[in-house]
Amino acid sequence: MYSYLGLFLCILFVCCSATPFTIIGSRRSILREINNNDKSDHPDYAVELNATNFDDVLKDTPATFAVVEFFAHWCPACRNYKPHYEKVARLFNGPDAVHPGIILMTRVDCASKVCASSIFFLHNMWFRVYKKHALMIGTSLFTFSEAQINNKLCDQFSVVHYPMLFWGRPPKFVGGSWEPKQEKSDICVIDDACTADRLLNWINKELGSSFGLDDQRFGNEHLSSNISDPGQIVKAIYDVEEATSTAFDIILGHKMIKPESRASLIKFLQLLVVHHPSKRCRKGSAEFLMSFDDLYPADFWSTNEQEINKGSLSDLQICGKDLPHGQWIFCRGSKNDTRGFR
Ligand SMILES: *[C@@H]1O[C@H](CO)[C@@H](O)[C@H](O)[C@H]1NC(C)=O
Ligand SMILES: *[C@@H]1O[C@H](CO)[C@@H](O)[C@H](O)[C@H]1NC(C)=O
Ligand SMILES: *[C@@H]1O[C@H](CO)[C@@H](O)[C@H](O)[C@H]1NC(C)=O
Repeated sequence: MYSYLGLFLCILFVCCSATPFTIIGSRRSILREINNNDKSDHPDYAVELNATNFDDVLKDTPATFAVVEFFAHWCPACRNYKPHYEKVARLFNGPDAVHPGIILMTRVDCASKVCASSIFFLHNMWFRVYKKHALMIGTSLFTFSEAQINNKLCDQFSVVHYPMLFWGRPPKFVGGSWEPKQEKSDICVIDDACTADRLLNWINKELGSSFGLDDQRFGNEHLSSNISDPGQIVKAIYDVEEATSTAFDIILGHKMIKPESRASLIKFLQLLVVHHPSKRCRKGSAEFLMSFDDLYPADFWSTNEQEINKGSLSDLQICGKDLPHGQWIFCRGSKNDTRGFR
């Protein structure tokens, strides 16, 4: 039996030295893992996919769009590109994503070899050695050294160089493919993405968005803060003022006041005069209320409303003219002039 084992180890050695990429590749991926653990405690933001989970992940993602990067772990350009890709992935992937649910950023290693299946073959071969069917070893090993798990996937997308990036809606990638000369395709190549800036520019152009690499998540971390801090309460009132002002801009700007809603609006203004947390909104509401009959006379809707008081209505600032705009503190979005989850 030991001589069989010797033969087996010998064949294994010969086969492996004949396929240097296998060895270099796996050593590099081990190094890469060690590096990652050393350098940072968060895993990559981009989701690593392989032939096994590719379809499932893209089918299940709630994101509206997907980016798939095909690369090879041994390719120097890909390794240089990784930090760029990660910088963009940080914005969209993971629990702390600045802009969650919009884009799923993924990568597929076209040169990935099968570790799991090599162990399987080893077991298989041990078994055969034990049962003295040693002749099977050679063929098994040959199959193993050729096995690149994502080959078929990369071929389907006609990956001709590394890295190569694709863009599309996630379901279009499921069982999908791409051909260089295809006229119309639901999946397209991102052709100008060699730095993080250019990749994000490409995405912004595609979506008409204005995401920035420095976008930060605002808002929620402030919310958990200190409600007995007077400074924060003052800021919170800015938000309420601005929200009130925006609401009235919408109500007046879209002529939402109708004969049947007139009475409700008067009641609402009466409430604001007494209870609004901001002094200037209380004052503005009171002024609006006092001039309400002039602005909205009972026969307002029967006359030509285009002419009547148009100027004075659009000028009306319920919380005063000095209200600073775009100052969202607690309700701020990911950018300084946006709100909520934007
Ligand atoms: C594919 O990736 C998943 C998740 O990382 C892993 O569990 C699985 O073993 C991989 N498949 C192969 C064939 O390597
Ligand atoms: C909350 O703010 C008040 C006033 O600024 C301060 O005295 C107090 O220490 C703060 N509490 C916490 C938990 O930060
Ligand atoms: C918000 O944007 C305005 C205009 O773009 C700028 O002047 C201001 O400094 C920004 N504020 C912060 C906190 O970034």
